[in-house]
Amino acid sequence: MSIDGKIAMKNGSSKWITSEFARQNVQKFRARSSIILSSSSTILSDNSLLNVRDYELDKKTLSIFPKKKFQQPIRVIIDSQNRITPEHKIIHTKGKIWLMRLKLDKISWPSNVQQILMKENNRKIDIIFALKYLGRLKMNNIWVEAGSHLSGFLLHKKLVDEIIVYIAPKILGHKAKPMCVVQNVVSLFQALQFDFKNIRQIGPDIRIILSPKNNNNEHNFKDS
Ligand SMILES: NC(=O)c1ccc[n+]([C@@H]2O[C@H](COP(=O)([O-])OP(=O)(O)OC[C@H]3O[C@@H](n4cnc5c(N)ncnc54)[C@H](OP(=O)(O)O)[C@@H]3O)[C@@H](O)[C@H]2O)c1
Repeated sequence: MSIDGKIAMKNGSSKWITSEFARQNVQKFRARSSIILSSSSTILSDNSLLNVRDYELDKKTLSIFPKKKFQQPIRVIIDSQNRITPEHKIIHTKGKIWLMRLKLDKISWPSNVQQILMKENNRKIDIIFALKYLGRLKMNNIWVEAGSHLSGFLLHKKLVDEIIVYIAPKILGHKAKPMCVVQNVVSLFQALQFDFKNIRQIGPDIRIILSPKNNNNEHNFKDS
């Protein structure tokens, strides 16, 4: 994001706010996750792949995840309105893709793509139900790459153990999209609070790792 906390322009374009070094660093976090969680809105805006690209991993990460044995994290997309179609680039990448839906379509999807029926909450997917579903499958390490609304909801519900942000020395202005839209924060007293756990320069950008305040969980992997 930018130093004024923006993740995309008003028209949705976000390629690229941060540098290739930051994007390469993201690959390591993706590789360590069981699930990469995103939304149809983000896929529609960016036509993103959200996969791990081995050619972007450094030697150390490749030694932990050797190419031959490596399994792509499952990409889970919240898609209540069946907006993802076989034409999206992500569908043609290796690895499992789970489309969380309220109604299954009859499209014949490639074998790596599965539609999963979710519970409804207010005409949207019940995100808590979806997370519990993943938890029951022992998918415990979820890496979220989403826009303002899904991220904001997870923060609001205190479902986030760690925030990892890459900040580019740019200002995108007040019309650009914020990192999160969080409900019910109208006074400083209600601000969601975090502790800085790690701050590091990555190329021209900085990476900040934060954890919710009063959460004593230790960082579960060493700095990389
Ligand atoms: N710079 C970055 O690193 C970065 C990363 C990701 C995205 N982005 C940008 O973010 C923008 C998209 O942001 P966005 O806010 O439009 O989309 P978003 O937050 O990624 O996703 C919004 C969608 O998530 C689902 N959702 C959100 N809150 C929900 C809730 N409480 N209950 C159930 N479902 C919920 C809904 O899906 P349904 O519509 O399926 O119901 C909703 O339409 C794009 O421009 C993209 O480029 C930037």
